[in-house]
Amino acid sequence: MNILITGGAGFIGSHVVRRFVKNYPDYQIYNLDALTYAGNLENLRDIEQHPNYTFLKGDVIDEPFLNQIFEKHQFDGVIHLAAESHVDRSITDPLAFVRTNIIGTVNLLNVSRDLWKENKDNKRFYHISTDEVYGSLGTDGLFTENTPYDPNSPYSASKASSDHFVRAYGETYGLPYVITNCSNNYGPNHFPEKLIPLFINNIIENKPLPVYGDGKYTRDWLFVKDHAAAIDLVFHKGKNQETYNIGGFNEWQNIELVKLLCKIMDKKLDRQEGTSEKLITYVKDRPGHDLRYAIDASKINKELGWKPSVTFEQGLELTIDWYLENQEWLDHVTSGDYQEYYDKMYK
Ligand code: NAD
Ligand code: TYD
Repeated sequence: MNILITGGAGFIGSHVVRRFVKNYPDYQIYNLDALTYAGNLENLRDIEQHPNYTFLKGDVIDEPFLNQIFEKHQFDGVIHLAAESHVDRSITDPLAFVRTNIIGTVNLLNVSRDLWKENKDNKRFYHISTDEVYGSLGTDGLFTENTPYDPNSPYSASKASSDHFVRAYGETYGLPYVITNCSNNYGPNHFPEKLIPLFINNIIENKPLPVYGDGKYTRDWLFVKDHAAAIDLVFHKGKNQETYNIGGFNEWQNIELVKLLCKIMDKKLDRQEGTSEKLITYVKDRPGHDLRYAIDASKINKELGWKPSVTFEQGLELTIDWYLENQEWLDHVTSGDYQEYYDKMYK
């Protein structure tokens, strides 16, 4: 099998690429990535010499390039993760999200449809999406696969749109697809613009921890390697034309999560308990901020037998240890444009 993974130099994509390269030596894994600010080949240093791995630098917006690589490599499967992924950036630059997340997805759908026109056997387009397409929950209830779409940010609107296109290509052209909608991921290689890695980096540097609004927003957190395991399972065992929700069964209010993070970091850094909590600073809220996300992952659990393998405490500890041991990685990704982004967002 020749498998195309898009966005493989990013956070989740790098864990998926590594898992496929290592677990399936008979597959040829092609990683297509434009290497935007979020893409980093350092995430894949340990596997880049494997004989079943090839990196293809390119943009999903570039239709001629997609035609060329699909013609050359005759992919049997596509696992599509490439996206603009940060809600705050989508508020300042929505069009970048329309380009990559919507037009880029439609470009990939077109080339896949055309390549698999004559023979759809064992072919699969796997679209990786988010729970944010369902909008916001109140204080109770969970998102199921049947929850109506109700996106509130330009990011979630662009992902919702791409999900609709994937489904429409299934209905209209018979494209064999599967979609998963996952909750918030955390873990190694997470770019420090998202809550957990940003706060780990700021604690290390003794910088303020900017909590949006009253901090009572709730997210459902999943360790990234458990997401990669779910993606592996759905790619191989999921049913065509189906959607599966993936979640951590692990809801945390932001402020409670931040306090837990501070406590663990104080221990790891040999600081007196309470030191990091003093860095918490309440700042202006994010516009259109979704109150609560929480996933009902019972379908993937019952049908495919998937469940998270680590507790939040274990996952957080593994994550923090990784950042402390990979200061060089952090230094590289926080140099250059990052500082400009940080000043624009937080100063
Ligand atoms: P990320 O921002 O860390 O990585 C995105 C990758 O896509 C980067 O390597 C980037 O270079 C690449 N990319 C961006 N634009 C591209 C383009 N036009 N052409 C080719 N490559 C491009 O994102 P992530 O957090 O790893 O998310 C991966 C996918 O999972 C996304 O589709 C996202 O919507 C989805 N998702 C993320 C989460 C989460 O918590 N991070 C949760 C659920 C779903
Ligand atoms: P984030 O990691 O950006 O993920 P998402 O918005 O996709 O859920 O944010 C997680 C939560 O943390 C969300 O409620 C917004 C909040 N947050 C802050 O309070 N401060 C920050 O600096 C960031 C980046 C996020």
